[in-house]
Amino acid sequence: MSVIEIQDLSLVYRTGKEEFLALDHINATIGSGEFVTIVGSSGCGKSTLLSVLDGLNKPTGGRVLIDGAPINGTGPERAVVFQQYTLFPWMSARDNVAFGIKQVRKGIPAKQAEAVSEEYLEKVGLSEFMHKLPGELSGGMQQRVAIARALAVDPKILLMDEPFGAIDARTRVTLQEMLLDLWSQDEEKKTVVFVTHDIDEALLLSDRIFFMEPKRIKDVIDVTIPRPRAKETLYNQEDSNKLLNRLLGLFYQDVAEQIGNEEVVL
Ligand SMILES: Nc1ncnc2c1ncn2[C@@H]1O[C@H](COP(=O)(O)OP(=O)(O)O)[C@@H](O)[C@H]1O
Ligand SMILES: [Mg+2]
Repeated sequence: MSVIEIQDLSLVYRTGKEEFLALDHINATIGSGEFVTIVGSSGCGKSTLLSVLDGLNKPTGGRVLIDGAPINGTGPERAVVFQQYTLFPWMSARDNVAFGIKQVRKGIPAKQAEAVSEEYLEKVGLSEFMHKLPGELSGGMQQRVAIARALAVDPKILLMDEPFGAIDARTRVTLQEMLLDLWSQDEEKKTVVFVTHDIDEALLLSDRIFFMEPKRIKDVIDVTIPRPRAKETLYNQEDSNKLLNRLLGLFYQDVAEQIGNEEVVL
């Protein structure tokens, strides 16, 4: 539960003498407990925007406020899940999650961190696997551990950068629905910013979609599909088909602009 205000945000990458403008004067507000997805083609700046929200990259211009205070580096109220599996390979699932907890709650007794870790591994359906090493788990299971690690520190804001991008289609649906369940069960909902280039995923999960073109947010779409939602019945709704067509239109327009030919037919 936290409000994120993105004010006139620009980011320039500098490598030697080269400069590259990755984000160009972005403005947006993400409400407390809102689930926002950021959608857009490869290279448009989605990960860059998320890295600024996380505090890993500093804005070159403008600022980002969380509950009214400017971001200054990473913070315990924010947790991130990346596409690449980021678990320590030599630690069990339980130790990976407990490690995250100890990082944020300094001085917590080891036994207590383990107990919290077990609680969250149970939430993601991995109780039986808590003593396994990441290498002994499937990709989907490793991402469940990463999600448990992020949630176990009880962040107000959850940042997710294509977390299911490397997961096979069937497992992906299970993980999407698990994430939705966990998010909606919280009394104080977490604010979620979730990057994806999968339109179905965006429609299933989010309250609003920020559609990015290179460097900017081009359009903001209210996802009016009633909750609870499930992948299986998502397109039984008239709303979903309209939204799907609108998003496909934006994607095709984006591709056409990048090719430099408005007449392109896909
Ligand atoms: N560290 C970096 N240095 C220079 N350019 C970068 C760096 N990271 C990303 N970029 C460039 O910034 C643009 C946006 O990248 P990114 O945010 O990763 O896009 P997306 O996540 O939407 O695929 C791309 O053109 C990319 O090449
Ligand atoms: Mg990216």
